[in-house]
Amino acid sequence: MKNIVILISGGGSNMAAIVQAAQREDWAGRFGARVAAVIGSKAGAPGLELARAQGVPTEVVEHKAFAQEADPRAAFDAALAIAIDRHAPALVLLAGFMRILTPGFVQRYEGRLVNIHPSLLPAFAGLQTHQRALDAGCQFAGATVHRVTPELDHGPILGQVVVPVLPGDTAQSLGQRVLTQEHRLFPRVVAALLAQAA
Ligand code: GRF
Repeated sequence: MKNIVILISGGGSNMAAIVQAAQREDWAGRFGARVAAVIGSKAGAPGLELARAQGVPTEVVEHKAFAQEADPRAAFDAALAIAIDRHAPALVLLAGFMRILTPGFVQRYEGRLVNIHPSLLPAFAGLQTHQRALDAGCQFAGATVHRVTPELDHGPILGQVVVPVLPGDTAQSLGQRVLTQEHRLFPRVVAALLAQAA
């Protein structure tokens, strides 16, 4: 069985969409793949409860616990890698995972690490993507699933979805419309990766 590990920091709606797609589309039967674990970077992340409700084991690697270390980021990434490696995953998915990962971590999972970002990359890497798209007068927004490289939000693109900007849109209304499409895009890209590997 190929294990998928999903990393989250917040609501976990993309994670839930992947778990649902895996069940609905029988990824176990079709690709021999399953979501083995969801790992949160915050104990209170609402997505953890959502994962448990869907029957997926959860773990927490609390990033704040490493704040006193000499190199907090490296210490967090080392603990995260231990939690991930227990599952020997074929894919590690970043689904609303709000920590910047060290180059060493990214290298360790090269070829297996995939992120979803709420903009049409290479436009609007980083945060506040919807507000920045509105401020720039974009007529289209969207989301991108891409391989993770050490440079934030810059890896090779695996899939994108385009969403129109509507008159009167706010960052919130646009973000909600994009998020709904993310829930279709991310599982579709993961299924394609699994099909390639099958
Ligand atoms: C999504 O918009 C994703 O693209 C971004 O963070 C948000 C996470 O939402 N990286 P959720 O936790 O999946 O609901």
